[in-house]
Amino acid sequence: MKLTVIGTGYLGATHAAAMAELGHDVLGIDVDQHKVDVLNAGRVPFYEPGLPELVERNIAAGRLRFTTDYEQVGAFGDVHFICVGTPQKKGEYAADLSYVDGAVESLLPVLRPGALVVGKSTVPSGTAVRLAGLLAPAGADLVWNPEFLREGFAVEDTLRPDRIVMGTSSDWAAKLLSEVYADILDTGTPLIITDFATAELVKVAANSFLATKISFINAMAEVCEATGADVTKLAEALSHDVRIGGRFLHAGLGFGGGCLPKDIRAFMARAGELGVDQALSFLREIDQINLRRRARMVDLARELCDGTLAGVRVAVLGAAFKPNSDDIRDSPALDVALTVQRAGAAVRVYDPQAMDNARRDYPTLAYATSAVDAARDADVVLHLTEWAEFREMHPSVLTDVVGQLRIVDGRNALDRELWRAEGWTYRALGRT
Ligand code: UDX
Repeated sequence: MKLTVIGTGYLGATHAAAMAELGHDVLGIDVDQHKVDVLNAGRVPFYEPGLPELVERNIAAGRLRFTTDYEQVGAFGDVHFICVGTPQKKGEYAADLSYVDGAVESLLPVLRPGALVVGKSTVPSGTAVRLAGLLAPAGADLVWNPEFLREGFAVEDTLRPDRIVMGTSSDWAAKLLSEVYADILDTGTPLIITDFATAELVKVAANSFLATKISFINAMAEVCEATGADVTKLAEALSHDVRIGGRFLHAGLGFGGGCLPKDIRAFMARAGELGVDQALSFLREIDQINLRRRARMVDLARELCDGTLAGVRVAVLGAAFKPNSDDIRDSPALDVALTVQRAGAAVRVYDPQAMDNARRDYPTLAYATSAVDAARDADVVLHLTEWAEFREMHPSVLTDVVGQLRIVDGRNALDRELWRAEGWTYRALGRT
């Protein structure tokens, strides 16, 4: 089938390449000429494991290409996927829908009658019905088909999703989209067909649940710190109850990124408009618990440095919001790095993949070329993003270069006994 994908960020570029991999003819569109040029050259303008191979293979096979021209998109596509971002509005909790609205406005004059538009972006309740109203006069149908991919596993999650959700009132539209996904559905992937409102909610409810699970264990970490208990052992013991499970129960610096934080805030904002803000007031606490972990991390560093960060040399390991990504949106690591710097410390940051993004957005921080380089003469090392490179690093690699053998493990991901055996003072969130 002939598909177009609007927006070529983490979601859109992956979706476009994955649909081409399924055998479809795919045309991606973005307003950013540079991104389009890079993708057309068979490369990926951000870090996502497995995606460069997929893009290169499908560009070479002639099934995938990218443009900045909506006329081409309208003439080409039977099905158009909206994959643009819905960031948090500046100064408020609500989602900024201008990119979604812009995509629909640009599509409207060029759509062929009988085309199907599929919304994948994360949007507040009520968006799909409004957009369907705009598309109907052009003879186009709409399905809301939320995307659940995790950065770092985007290819796997797109080609082998846990489930596919379609919000629509049209049997024809659901059937057409099922044909697009036929190879995925044939493997037994659960398909949930529902209305617009439910499809929109599935996404924000899922992200709210995940955020709640992380903040739950981080709240337990606060209690552990007050009682001398060990949150990693607590989580391990909880995880054996299959009703609870161990995933997303990893205590540490908490969640960041382009989805979880802004999605729970947009959800609260929309609930307020709908008059059900009480139903989601717990999400405010989830957000607060999450942000308190960042403050606690700074306090731990200060405690370890005899009560002040002024003039202290701090090595920061990690800038991405999580490992296997170069995404620094709402990154807990960079948030901590900036706070520590504002407290008077001299900070040097290293990340295996996110250096360019971090340098661009946070030019006032100093950057190192490796973990060893960051740690040179440091009074304290802060481990803030649990890249394999840091988890697998033997403490002796840093022992000779640092000023003081002090580390705070913000992700509970290092081998505490090993670091202590090497003579380091090791501190972590939620355990002594
Ligand atoms: C998330 C959802 O998982 C995905 O389904 C949705 O489509 C988009 O948002 P993503 O933002 O890529 O995906 O990252 P995810 O792997 O969910 O991690 C989110 C944050 O939570 C990261 O900062 C991570 O470090 C943190 N986290 C995760 C924890 O602190 N503890 C955990 O146990 C798990």
